[in-house]
Amino acid sequence: MGGEEVRGVGLIGAGAMAQALLHGLLAGGALAPECLAVTNRGDRGRLREAERLGVHATVDKADVCRRSDVLILAVKPKDALEASRQLRPSLDARHLVVSVVAGLRRRGLQAALGDHHRVVRAMPNTGSVIGASATALAREGDPSDVRTAARLLATLGPVELVAEEQLDAVTALSGSGPAYVYLLIEAMIAAGVAEGLPADVARALTLQTALGAARMAVESGAEPAELRRQISSPGGTTLAALQVFEGHELRETVRLAVRRAKERAAEIGATLEAAQG
Ligand SMILES: NC(=O)c1ccc[n+]([C@@H]2O[C@H](COP(=O)([O-])OP(=O)(O)OC[C@H]3O[C@@H](n4cnc5c(N)ncnc54)[C@H](OP(=O)(O)O)[C@@H]3O)[C@@H](O)[C@H]2O)c1
Repeated sequence: MGGEEVRGVGLIGAGAMAQALLHGLLAGGALAPECLAVTNRGDRGRLREAERLGVHATVDKADVCRRSDVLILAVKPKDALEASRQLRPSLDARHLVVSVVAGLRRRGLQAALGDHHRVVRAMPNTGSVIGASATALAREGDPSDVRTAARLLATLGPVELVAEEQLDAVTALSGSGPAYVYLLIEAMIAAGVAEGLPADVARALTLQTALGAARMAVESGAEPAELRRQISSPGGTTLAALQVFEGHELRETVRLAVRRAKERAAEIGATLEAAQG
């Protein structure tokens, strides 16, 4: 895969995504705890959580930059420009900045970092915690930097290379996607309970069903539509249920939801661009 050897990774932000990345990088054996550092604005509880993993945790960005050659920007979009400006004085040519911030364009980030050129954008998801992230990485950037980021992110799960202009769609599909799957899981559990199953049984059966279906689709390599057809015999129960889904326009609902999330990513990007002037 190539790219540079990564000796130290600094996480800018210590929230949900940063914690997921931290756990994933450690579990994947990408780096030893002493090669990782994390920083936030001041939530001491989050920093202590990182320290318990053996990771250096501080509110001092300059300290994190000194220890790291890759910086992963994992703050909310609304905080990204300010965090970038704060990083500016501590950045030098050895630092590669990998942004996982939804909506924030590469060029805008480079400007906020003081015309720092070594920037790539990626969109992992919270599956990172268990090395099961669906990650997209934008091709734009120095090829060696893209390879370095690809190698690091590959320890969190499979990585797809996309064009930067496709990242809003990625954000809408796989960045936010775990929540869509959880919603379906919640609905299935509730439906099982409504039909008379004990809650713990409905939960266990639903979770294993989701896991088994996803593993079947991945491991068999068969098209999901083909797997669905194989278990929907005419006159059977599965087909009866699927007809209800189709009748209530499930596909169109999913289509509209993903489009709305993509539009929201674009709106966030536009707001950040307007803030930069
Ligand atoms: N969550 C997901 O599923 C997901 C998936 C893909 C990508 N992302 C992206 O990941 C980013 C972070 O999302 P999140 O859900 O992890 O947010 P979050 O839980 O709210 O965490 C945000 C973190 O940023 C820190 N922060 C804010 N301003 C800072 C600054 N100036 N300097 C240093 N740290 C600062 C906060 O620190 P304090 O708590 O001290 O204020 C907090 O630790 C977003 O841009 C999102 O688009 C998230």
